[in-house]
Amino acid sequence: MHLFAVRVFLGILFCAPHLCLGCPPGCECFFVTRTVKCVSQDLLTVPQSIPGYSRTVIITGNNIHQIGPDSFTELENVTNIILSNNRIVEVASHSFSALPNLRLLDLSGNQLALIHPEALSIPGSPLQELNLSRALHNFTALTDLATALRWGGLGGLLRLDLSGNHLGLLPPVMFSHLPSLQQLHLANNSLVAVYGGTFTGVDRLEVLDLTRNAFRTLRTDALQELEALGSIRILLGDNPYSCSCEIRDYVAWLNETRARVDADAVRCASPSGLSGTRVRGLGVQAIGCVGPVAAEVADLTLQTSYVFLGLVLGFVGMVFLFVLYLNRNGMKKWINDMRDACRDVLEGYHYRYEIDSDPRLGHISAGAGRGRQPGLALPQQLPSDTCIVQVPTDTRVKQVSPSDHP
Ligand SMILES: *[C@@H]1O[C@H](CO)[C@@H](O)[C@H](O)[C@H]1NC(C)=O
Ligand SMILES: *[C@@H]1O[C@H](CO)[C@@H](O)[C@H](O)[C@H]1NC(C)=O
Ligand SMILES: *[C@@H]1O[C@H](CO)[C@@H](O)[C@H](O)[C@H]1NC(C)=O
Ligand SMILES: *[C@@H]1O[C@H](CO)[C@@H](O)[C@H](O)[C@H]1NC(C)=O
Ligand SMILES: *[C@@H]1O[C@H](CO)[C@@H](O)[C@H](O)[C@H]1NC(C)=O
Repeated sequence: MHLFAVRVFLGILFCAPHLCLGCPPGCECFFVTRTVKCVSQDLLTVPQSIPGYSRTVIITGNNIHQIGPDSFTELENVTNIILSNNRIVEVASHSFSALPNLRLLDLSGNQLALIHPEALSIPGSPLQELNLSRALHNFTALTDLATALRWGGLGGLLRLDLSGNHLGLLPPVMFSHLPSLQQLHLANNSLVAVYGGTFTGVDRLEVLDLTRNAFRTLRTDALQELEALGSIRILLGDNPYSCSCEIRDYVAWLNETRARVDADAVRCASPSGLSGTRVRGLGVQAIGCVGPVAAEVADLTLQTSYVFLGLVLGFVGMVFLFVLYLNRNGMKKWINDMRDACRDVLEGYHYRYEIDSDPRLGHISAGAGRGRQPGLALPQQLPSDTCIVQVPTDTRVKQVSPSDHP
């Protein structure tokens, strides 16, 4: 009797009877805080008849397979719906369309495998925060989500949580239809790279959380993508950074970026000599880019190329000698021919030289050089001591007698 009286008293105190009557089975309804809670009740569907005054609906730890357009009827005052850990697999089209003031939707801790392209469409785009932490079953669900983000008319979304989803890569321009997005949580995934275009369109971003992923370094295209976000807060800690020369561009970016990075948490995981060292401020020598080791390597490369050049030249020479050997008979003949030819030529020169060096014959060659026929000019111009076999016929030997002289 006493207990019953207390209950009635509490009921009158905290909720008007006509409203409390509407509380669905297995749920607790709090009129003062405008909250409905259905926690760990093994519910198989979203309970119907949620009171109209509700602002916050918390349905967690149940066994609800599917959310559909009938799950939530017209509830004009609901702003927050928390559906975490319900083993939800499917979110059908227009599941939340009857909630014109829904600002926070928490689907974390489910196993979403089917997300309809218009699953998140709500007239008026009221949604500001979407929590999908540990909610995606596999990569197919991620591509489904990318489509739903595109078709959902989520122009007012400010916060998106995709942490803990084993994501290995992000589809390009996945967030381009979220122009108001301020916080993007991608922590605790398996991302190894950020590609150009990943954050295209998120021009109002203020916080990007990439902690606890699988980055060993960030390459140039990733750094350009991050730098394009401006002076925002970027969390990059707790990644397995490999502090070899490959990390050089990342160090340089950390050294001078205008983004606010959690540089204290960005530390080398390997090699063991640098494990735990802060990545920002690392010198190029510390990560083995220049210095004695690199110089020796360069020297060795140079030596190797010289050795290679020598080998190539030696090989070419051997081939040449081998060809000569194969052609030795032809070569001998050729050499003999050449020698004969040379001898002829040399003898010819020798002869010419002898003629040229005789001063009495100098004019012959000169006359020949002018194109005259030497045979005609020769007899008249021969010097006196030239041996002439035939005396020319018109030569008269004049008899000179003393009587001719008076
Ligand atoms: C929603 O809230 C407003 C203002 O608090 C109230 O007037 C209205 O009756 C509520 N709607 C329902 C269905 O209870
Ligand atoms: C999303 O939900 C998880 C737990 O379900 C919580 O830890 C996390 O803080 C939520 N994300 C945001 C951005 O509030
Ligand atoms: C993801 O899971 C669904 C349902 O289990 C399956 O049909 C689909 O093939 C899976 N996709 C991948 C990429 O594993
Ligand atoms: C990271 O994600 C895994 C798998 O989703 C989860 O089991 C783990 O609790 C998460 N860790 C943290 C620190 O959030
Ligand atoms: C980063 O800055 C430190 C000094 O603060 C400098 O010694 C180091 O060489 C820089 N690293 C790169 C890769 O620019």
